[in-house]
Amino acid sequence: MSTTVNLPQVRSDQFFTVAEARHDRWRNLLSATRAWGSALEKNGAAAETKRSNVTAIFADLRQWEDFFAYPGAALLQTIEDRITEGDHAATTRVVQVISVALLTHSYRGSDAAWEGIQTSPGVMSAKLPVGGNENAPHKPYFEVLIATAAHPSMWPGLSRELRKLRRPQDTFIYETVFVSSFEDAILGTILNGSLEAIIISEGIPFASLHNSPVLREFLTTHLAATGVDVDSPDLAVSLAQGIKLIRPELDIYLLSDREVEKVAGNPEAQCLRRIFYQVEEPLELHLSILDGIADRYNTPYFDNLQKYAQRPIGTFHALPIARGKSIFKSNWISDMGRFYGINLFLAESSATTGGLDSLLEPTGNIKVAQELAARAFGADHVFFVTNGTSTSNKMVEQALLAPGDIMLVDRNCHKSHHYGAVIAGALPLYVDAYPLTRFSMYGAVPLRSIKKALLQLKAEGKLSRAKLLVLTNCTFDGQIYNVERVMEECLAIKPDLIFLWDEAWFGYARWSPFYRRRTAMGAAEALERKFKDPAYRAAYQEQAKKLGPDLNQEEEVLLETRLLANPDKVRLRVYQTNSTHKSMSALRQGSMVLVKDQDYHTVEEQFHEAVFTHASTSPNLQIIATLDVARRQMELEGYELVNRAIQLALELRREVNSHPLISKYFTILGAYEMIPAQFRNSGFIDYLAPGSNWAQAIKALREDEFALDVTRLTLVCGTAGFDGTQFKNLLAARYDIQLNKTSRNSVLLQTNINNTRSDVAHLIKVLVEISQEIEKRLQRAGAEELSAFNARTKSLMEDVPDLPDFSCFHDSFRENPDSLTSEGDMRAGFFGAYREEQCEHLKLFDGEIDRRLKEGPALVSANFVIPYPPGFPIMVPGQVITPETINFMRKLDVKEIHGFSAALGLKLLKPSFLEAAKSPTREPAEPRRAVEKRAA
Ligand SMILES: Cc1ncc(COP(=O)(O)O)c(C=O)c1O
Repeated sequence: MSTTVNLPQVRSDQFFTVAEARHDRWRNLLSATRAWGSALEKNGAAAETKRSNVTAIFADLRQWEDFFAYPGAALLQTIEDRITEGDHAATTRVVQVISVALLTHSYRGSDAAWEGIQTSPGVMSAKLPVGGNENAPHKPYFEVLIATAAHPSMWPGLSRELRKLRRPQDTFIYETVFVSSFEDAILGTILNGSLEAIIISEGIPFASLHNSPVLREFLTTHLAATGVDVDSPDLAVSLAQGIKLIRPELDIYLLSDREVEKVAGNPEAQCLRRIFYQVEEPLELHLSILDGIADRYNTPYFDNLQKYAQRPIGTFHALPIARGKSIFKSNWISDMGRFYGINLFLAESSATTGGLDSLLEPTGNIKVAQELAARAFGADHVFFVTNGTSTSNKMVEQALLAPGDIMLVDRNCHKSHHYGAVIAGALPLYVDAYPLTRFSMYGAVPLRSIKKALLQLKAEGKLSRAKLLVLTNCTFDGQIYNVERVMEECLAIKPDLIFLWDEAWFGYARWSPFYRRRTAMGAAEALERKFKDPAYRAAYQEQAKKLGPDLNQEEEVLLETRLLANPDKVRLRVYQTNSTHKSMSALRQGSMVLVKDQDYHTVEEQFHEAVFTHASTSPNLQIIATLDVARRQMELEGYELVNRAIQLALELRREVNSHPLISKYFTILGAYEMIPAQFRNSGFIDYLAPGSNWAQAIKALREDEFALDVTRLTLVCGTAGFDGTQFKNLLAARYDIQLNKTSRNSVLLQTNINNTRSDVAHLIKVLVEISQEIEKRLQRAGAEELSAFNARTKSLMEDVPDLPDFSCFHDSFRENPDSLTSEGDMRAGFFGAYREEQCEHLKLFDGEIDRRLKEGPALVSANFVIPYPPGFPIMVPGQVITPETINFMRKLDVKEIHGFSAALGLKLLKPSFLEAAKSPTREPAEPRRAVEKRAA
């Protein structure tokens, strides 16, 4: 890296993973060298052009390779020399072996080969790492970035010194990558997913030798905005802070030549794992690096479960499956044993002793595993849940809400929240998401609606009862909130409001620097910093002078103002639930509750009560173990895996939308289609829009009200004549492709850390095949068939029913029917339905429905009615049914509608019950009686 090189203007999507693009670059180089060879065989003049091409491709590739340990500077130099010498055969051979080594990761297990390659290029072909010792125990491999002011000529020597410290008992193996500036260290952190540790020497300069305007913009805007001082004289510490913002899981070591005690005392230096006085103790440094990895690798529960499984344990408890004897010896079910393997049964137990700990009262390794998860996710506490996020949500809501409390909640949220309100007896105040009518789905809830609800509660003196705001982040279809801004502005109105962010789908986002700040924990961390910042306090005081400390202003003024919270009053109380099984390597139902609540001690007892209420007393040990392991994986390779999932999603988007045939019938919706312009103030259009770059994407992620999670891909299939369910069934039945949810005219695809390029290729191939079939059919079709196709696509794409907003609760369930706010006692409606004599049914197309809609009495739903798709309750217990709702129901052509039987019709609460319900002397519903009656 001795000359200044220009990184090309990097498209936003290219930055997400250099790993995949890296393989492509090497393959390109290989094709170019082969073309050079063929040209040589034919005629000399063309060969020279081909060689220039190889030189150019190699030059482009090489600038990226500076940030990876393998193949390393010596081997790259060898390739350059061979090209210059015109040695086509040697160039091709080396490039080929490197490509394979990179693809198969074979270089990771072969330290001797590294020595050979680095030091004696002349013999490198004999020593290229073509495979490790199969019998050697697997040692996970990682890379260490060293940011140093030492002259590049010293780097190989330093690298060798560290390699010499390797001992047979080391459990991990690493190689080093050197950079010489602040900017390059940041670039290396972003580009190299194999990095696990960083060593920073004091005295490195700021500016990179790589001339990348996009990187510079990122550094100056992104890092400065997050409080990292890039102009600080203490550049090494600023660098450590900057790296932590990108990849908080990395271990950072500082080599200082000053008074290390002083550096260690600097609160800003807390992000450093250890500080050394230069390299006075290389072995200590080596051991510290390994120790840091061991810390993340440690999975106390899983490790113990493995040990438990190997012990000869006699079981006299109620779990015949444990140890598997009744299975493997069975005449009839031994195939089950063969299918699952012995370990599953050896690792089963209902004991909470013997080191297995108790999920309900953890004091041992489950407790430690939860603490490690808290560290990884940036929470204060984590609770493992083995019954899915459906349970996690109900736990949090029961813990934080008492009967009569108000819970602001997206009507469109997962049903567990609605049931949570019923269980807690809290009054849901539904806030509506913006509709995407054309695609029969909802977006997310605009902040303006949430603020308005809070201000109205305030105006009516009910703000103290509004305890919790529940939002889904990201939504099923991928809209991500500006979590920080939502919390900040809500806290400006109600400083102790508690937040529950349902991140069922978004747990993985912690490991993406792009998304992290839009997660509950990432935003809470950012707000914590903000509220301590004197500049923020000053800005708040300025605002308080204008708006008054109690915000006694016109509602419109407050809705239009970007409100700041009073840092002296706020209580930061943030909860997150995530279906670890949906985005990380946990078994189905593995879920977590993350807590970052400065007043947690005030609710701890009730939190435990809620756990006792909902958690099974027989939690599945394998689920707990995989929660532990999922955390390990994300802390060690989450960054790389998540980047890949994002990259695959971007590739899929680009391929579908630009493919000449597929795009005639199918499209994947971009950010501008999923998020209306008023919520994209930065002007961001889409990651794949022409000219869009990385810095713009980051700006949008920082500023816009909503952003799109690119891994959630809405594929419009209505234009191909399929409704969502038909298309989903087609993909499953004919191609074994499973996908997420469907809407009237679209299906939702998703990439995750498990997907590969082959999966993407398969899907593309299938879409081509289906498009070809349609194309052929239409080419051969007569006028009638053509017009039927057009009518079908028009019906799917244009004759879409309006999405009904939440109407209102019936007056019987409202404390004050004249209230501006719409919260209601849903629980009373819910239990009202337990008595059959209080309910009636009306068939959906019965004229009586239309008559009552016109003349009354009001139609009031007795239960939740949830059609799939779209999957949100279009009616909740106690809700008044409107013509829009009936219209929507009548137009729905889906088969699965929970809470509705076409044969019986809509289940309604009788007007007589509603009348009686108004009376304060109303007898409470008795669920048991209804159950007994039904049983009889
Ligand atoms: C937003 C949201 N929250 C919660 C859940 C429930 O999660 P689980 O399936 O882990 O119970 C889902 C399930 O799809 C969901 O979409």
